[in-house]
Amino acid sequence: MATAEAPTTVSASSSVTPMLEVTDLHKRFGSLEVLKGVSVSTANANVISMIGASGSGKSTFLRCINLLEIPDSGDVRVDGELIRMIPSRTGGMKPADVKQVDRIRSRLAMVFQSFNLWTHMTVLENVIEAPVHVLGVPKRDAIEKAEALLDKVGIADKRDQYPAHLSGGQ
Ligand SMILES: Nc1ncnc2c1ncn2[C@@H]1O[C@H](COP(=O)(O)OP(=O)(O)OP(=O)(O)O)[C@@H](O)[C@H]1O
Ligand SMILES: [Mg+2]
Repeated sequence: MATAEAPTTVSASSSVTPMLEVTDLHKRFGSLEVLKGVSVSTANANVISMIGASGSGKSTFLRCINLLEIPDSGDVRVDGELIRMIPSRTGGMKPADVKQVDRIRSRLAMVFQSFNLWTHMTVLENVIEAPVHVLGVPKRDAIEKAEALLDKVGIADKRDQYPAHLSGGQ
């Protein structure tokens, strides 16, 4: 991360294979070096909070894990599996196997800072879209799980509303 006070190594020790292991991640945008060798290791069900000044690289770090940004160097392992990278023609890196990236992405989730909800779909339709179309979950099962999740976060009554009618937090 860019700020001096931001931690660059986080380790939640465990004897089992880390669910997520990031090693020495580097990312720069032109002359701006955002990630200066960030390492994180965490076991399943651990919760990690990343705290840092605006612009210090938190989102960039998350985006590098699922390759929405391509890191300049460093390793990302999900459940022990290394995301394989190879040199690209432009001098950086690129995924060695796009199918591997798709497969690993289907097991990662990210809530975008600017939400990125589908505005023409209801709350429920937004929640079931990825499970149904990416993971192939039967629609009936996806709806059941979505209703339980909406209930858990206290917005079950909003299931048929559109995103424009929700508050920021909702
Ligand atoms: N695609 C990009 N091209 C150029 N610079 C970028 C790009 N994405 C992010 N940056 C820059 O990288 C730095 C880190 O941005 P990032 O979005 O990771 O910060 P953040 O820690 O998530 O901030 P915030 O708390 O405001 O969300 C910022 O200086 C930002 O301007
Ligand atoms: Mg951010």
